Amino acid sequence: MFATSLGDNAELRPLEPWQAEEFLTHMDRARELVTEHVGLADAVTDLESARTFLTAYAHKQAVDAGRIYGIWLDDTLVGGVLFRIFDAQRGNCEVGCWLEPAATGRGLVTRAITVLIDWAVDRRGIHRVEWVASSANLASVKVARRLGLRLDGILRESNLHHGRRQDQEVWAVLAPEWRELRRNTP
Ligand SMILES: CC(C)(COP(=O)(O)OP(=O)(O)OC[C@H]1O[C@@H](n2cnc3c(N)ncnc32)[C@H](O)[C@@H]1OP(=O)(O)O)[C@@H](O)C(=O)NCCC(=O)NCCS
Repeated sequence: MFATSLGDNAELRPLEPWQAEEFLTHMDRARELVTEHVGLADAVTDLESARTFLTAYAHKQAVDAGRIYGIWLDDTLVGGVLFRIFDAQRGNCEVGCWLEPAATGRGLVTRAITVLIDWAVDRRGIHRVEWVASSANLASVKVARRLGLRLDGILRESNLHHGRRQDQEVWAVLAPEWRELRRNTP
């Protein structure tokens, strides 16, 4: 129900507060990989914080300010993608993602983010889609590049993560660029 196929027995589905327990179990498997570069795993440490995190996204979705989706592989929650920021009025949004180790290296996030950008650009009139990653997060930067986003710039030492300041790369694609990319890919 309410699922989008990503191929290879993988599906993109809404991720909602009632799934907090499944989300926490998955995050425990993903924690080591995710915590290296992003704060998501630090925000989801027990059932209460898992529910709080998903409830915050449910509220964001209710006011059209953000959304979160899970990626299920063989019916197991293995990762997700989100609109961390969604501003339909100004035509800007920011997407993000994570996976647990067993689900990496299959293109799941690349395909899931493509679904999100298609929807944002084609259905919601979003003009600019951003992807923000630590310069040290090579896997994330590779996904941005694979998707066809361009590096707009580097915010030097703009993010404090686990007591260390990180450079953040801002990658982006504009709606006409995305349509052109999609015309040229199967
Ligand atoms: C960022 C992250 C999601 C990337 O995971 P990933 O598995 O590399 O990304 P994808 O699911 O898009 O898969 C791409 C890989 O699958 C391979 N692949 C296989 N089939 C593919 C297909 N049909 N399409 C695209 N890629 C495919 C690619 O070659 C690539 O492997 P490579 O890195 O060895 O070149 C993961 O490293 C992660 O969760 N990191 C922690 C959280 C995080 O940093 N999130 C991003 C915050 S900005």
